[in-house]
Amino acid sequence: MPLVTSKKMFEQAYKNGYAIGAFNVNNLETIQGIVNACKAQNAPVILQVSAGARKYANPTYLQHLIIAASEETGLPICLHLDHGDSLELCKSCIEKGFTSVMIDASKYPLDENIRITKEVVEYAHDHGVVVEAELGKLAGIEDAVKVNAKDAMFTDPDEVYEFTTKTGIDSLAIAIGTSHGAYKFKPGTKPQLRFDILDEVAKRLPNFPIVLHGASSVPQDLVAVINQYGGKMPDAIGVPEDMLRQAARMAVCKINIDSDLRVAATAAIRKHFNEYPDHFDPRQYLGDARTAIQKVVEHKLIDVLGCAGKADECR
Ligand code: G3H
Ligand code: 13P
Ligand code: ZN
Repeated sequence: MPLVTSKKMFEQAYKNGYAIGAFNVNNLETIQGIVNACKAQNAPVILQVSAGARKYANPTYLQHLIIAASEETGLPICLHLDHGDSLELCKSCIEKGFTSVMIDASKYPLDENIRITKEVVEYAHDHGVVVEAELGKLAGIEDAVKVNAKDAMFTDPDEVYEFTTKTGIDSLAIAIGTSHGAYKFKPGTKPQLRFDILDEVAKRLPNFPIVLHGASSVPQDLVAVINQYGGKMPDAIGVPEDMLRQAARMAVCKINIDSDLRVAATAAIRKHFNEYPDHFDPRQYLGDARTAIQKVVEHKLIDVLGCAGKADECR
C-alpha cells in the first residue's frame, strides 16, 4: 500500500492506549529488521530519517527503500523527517514524498518557534502532509541538535495550548526527562520522567497526540555483549520500559527509538566477529545485525508500545 500519514495511527493509538514506534533508519538492514518485525507482529510503523541519515545515505536511496518496504509488507508505513531544522528542508522532503515532517524550532523563544512552525504547517497541510513540532529542550546529542544537560528544559504546560492552536500542528513533542543517545541517566541515580507534566499537557490538549523523543531503553543485556566483545560503553543507561508503557497508555502516541537499534546492531556485529574472525562478507555480519534489530523491535511492539496486531485499524 502507498505510504500513509500518521493521522489514523494517532487517532487509534490515542483512543486505545498504545503508541506507534518511530524508528530511525540509515540503511537497508535497519529498514528490513524493523519492517520484518512489524510484518511478524502486524504493526503499523513510522520510519524516520534524520539530517544525519540524509547525509549518510542520501534521502532518495532511503525513500526508495522505504517505498519498497511498504510495497513488500502491505503495512501502513509513515515516512517522517526527524528533527527538520528549516522550512526549506521540510519543503524538500514534502516535495519528495515524505508523508510527515518534524520542524524542530524548540531552541528558539516561543514566538519564533511559533512563527517558524506555522510556516511549515501551512506548506505541509497544503500538500496533505502532517507536522510534528517541539516545545521544551531534550538533553543529549544527535547530528543536528546538541543540548547539554544544564540547558535541557522541561516543557511548560502553560505554553502548549497557545503553541498548538497558533501553529496548527498535528502532534507535539514534549520534554519530560527523556534525552537523546545511550547515556540518559547518571549511574546510581533513579531514572525519572515527569509524568505530572505529561498529565498536565494532556489536560490542556484533550485528544491531542503527544510524542516522546529520546525514548530508547538501552537494553543492559546488549550493552553487556558489546562490553564483553571489546566495546566500551560503561554507564550506558536508558528509559525504563515500564515508564514508556505507562506513557503510551496516556497521551503519548509516538515513541522515538534509535539508540536501541544501534546498540542491538553493534552487539550482534561484535559477537559475530568474535565467533567468526575469518568472516569478511558483509552479508554475514549485517545479516546478524538485521536479525538483532528485528528481535528488539518485536519486543518493543509487543511489550512497550502495545501496537502489535494494530496494523489493520490504522489503514
Ligand atoms: O534524535 C535523533 C536520532 O537519534 C538521529 O540521530 O542525527 O545521529 O541520525 P542522528
Ligand atoms: P534515542 O536516542 O533515545 O533512541 O532517541 C531517538 C530520537 O528521539 C530520534 O528523534
Ligand atoms: Zn529526537
